[in-house]
Amino acid sequence: MRRGEIGIIAGMAALVIVVMGYRTYQLATGEKDPGIPFYSTATAEVKRQGEEIYRSAGCSKCHTLWMVRNMMETVPAPPLDGIGSLRDEQWFFHYFSAPDPQAILPTRLKAEFRMPSYASMPEADRHTLAAYMASLKVQDWYLDQTRQVEYEKLTGKKLEASSNETSNKK
Ligand code: HEC
Repeated sequence: MRRGEIGIIAGMAALVIVVMGYRTYQLATGEKDPGIPFYSTATAEVKRQGEEIYRSAGCSKCHTLWMVRNMMETVPAPPLDGIGSLRDEQWFFHYFSAPDPQAILPTRLKAEFRMPSYASMPEADRHTLAAYMASLKVQDWYLDQTRQVEYEKLTGKKLEASSNETSNKK
């Protein structure tokens, strides 16, 4: 092996050690990564029930939540992290109850990837799910990015930065 190659390998090994060490540090110092801007305001009960319905209804086949996604899935559905900062509980209930959700949110996807109708889900479950979704908040400093990601997933286009809001303030 030439010296240059050894240098590259040593450099990569050092990088791996640093990254692993950082992850270990993060895990050791608490469950949550301090940099994650997403949180839920739900009561323990709504959270437990909401997560249960979320899992049993198979929402995670298409959506990301708590930044967990099924690596085998490639459905470009909007992530649900922070979605409760973009929409409210009534909207979610109305959306889940709609026989045709695409009449509310137009899609750009093939039929099999689109948001299914959950109109036949028990009403109480739709309420719980709506309350849980509404509780999924994002910190202000990450709100714009969350909005951009949502917009891009829904439309396939980039969202123009709204420059007028902050630039006028001095
Ligand atoms: C087959 C894939 C699929 C499944 C399963 C699915 N969704 Fe969706 N969902 C989508 C897609 C794609 C969209 C974007 C609209 C569209 O293209 O129809 C969407 C949109 C949404 C939105 C609106 C997001 C926004 O940007 O405002 C919410 C909320 C949502 N889904 C929640 C859920 C919940 C809760 C479940 C489980 C009960 C679920 N979805 C199951 C694919 C799916």
